[in-house]
Amino acid sequence: MKTKFPIHTTLSADAIKVLERYEKELGAKNIVLEKALLNLDSTRFKAKLDTHNIDRLIKRVTTGIPGMDDFLEGGFPKGFSIVVTGPPGTGKTTFSMQYLMEGAKNGERCVFFSFEERAQQLVQHFARFGWDVGKYIDDGYLEIFGISMLTSEEMMEIIDSHKPDRVVFDSVNVLTAPGDFRTSTSWRGLHRLLKKNMTTAILVTEKSHGIETKHYDDFDFLGDGVIFLDFVQTNDIDTTPMPVMAVQKMRATHVDHSPQPFRFTNNGIAKYRALNLPSRVLQERLEKRRAERLGMSGDEI
Ligand SMILES: Nc1ncnc2c1ncn2[C@@H]1O[C@H](COP(=O)(O)OP(=O)(O)OP(=O)(O)O)[C@@H](O)[C@H]1O
Ligand SMILES: [Mg+2]
Repeated sequence: MKTKFPIHTTLSADAIKVLERYEKELGAKNIVLEKALLNLDSTRFKAKLDTHNIDRLIKRVTTGIPGMDDFLEGGFPKGFSIVVTGPPGTGKTTFSMQYLMEGAKNGERCVFFSFEERAQQLVQHFARFGWDVGKYIDDGYLEIFGISMLTSEEMMEIIDSHKPDRVVFDSVNVLTAPGDFRTSTSWRGLHRLLKKNMTTAILVTEKSHGIETKHYDDFDFLGDGVIFLDFVQTNDIDTTPMPVMAVQKMRATHVDHSPQPFRFTNNGIAKYRALNLPSRVLQERLEKRRAERLGMSGDEI
């Protein structure tokens, strides 16, 4: 026997039951009620999506920095472009290479575009942390383009053919000024390609000021995340400046934005919370440094 009423496949099972009951009583199709139920369904779907489901939709990429993943709800959100920035010699290249080592170790494809250092130099430099960078290159998990003179179009070709999971650009200041990066169509193309391929990228950028200065460039706005590395004196007796990192921004992630101490170990860098150094103390130090700077230059900071 042919069914008298249409099957409402786009509705949820609950909504279909309601609709069928009314249509049976009415003896006809009820379009108004069907639409109302459809709206109700989509609101319900959105509500479900907005709460716990969104967390499941975002995949996390492990950073390779001990202590960092727990701090970032499991790691960098997959497909994000993270700006790793700071003044000279604060560990930006180390952070980035450690991130690629983690990927290569897990069998992911990694590409390092270095615009200032030779590949051989990087391999030798990081041997001190016990990282066998050369082995990952030989095994095909890592590709380093040292003192790269590549254009953005050539890099796009490489990314398109390699389809890497992780990419580092060190540093993008060598390539372009922050303002140009954001407006140039070729760089926007590169950015779009990274997003399309769900490549999780680190964009190393340079700052000529410390963490206490609130000056932001276009790279900071463009990045999905910003991690600032710096050295800060934290103790009056031991005046050795201590390395700190601050996650100034990480979209889709709850983070503590206050600067966190980290250290250089025999195996690379590791984030840690020193028991004798509450973040309040660190904050006070930074404010002091900021005030001193303001007194010295009279600049707006
Ligand atoms: N074992 C270690 N202990 C303390 N500091 C270390 C150790 N190994 C490296 N460093 C520090 O790391 C810094 C260099 O790291 P890296 O090259 O990653 O910095 P960078 O921010 O990329 O520098 P640049 O701005 O020159 O590119 C140096 O300042 C060095 O003092
Ligand atoms: Mg560097």
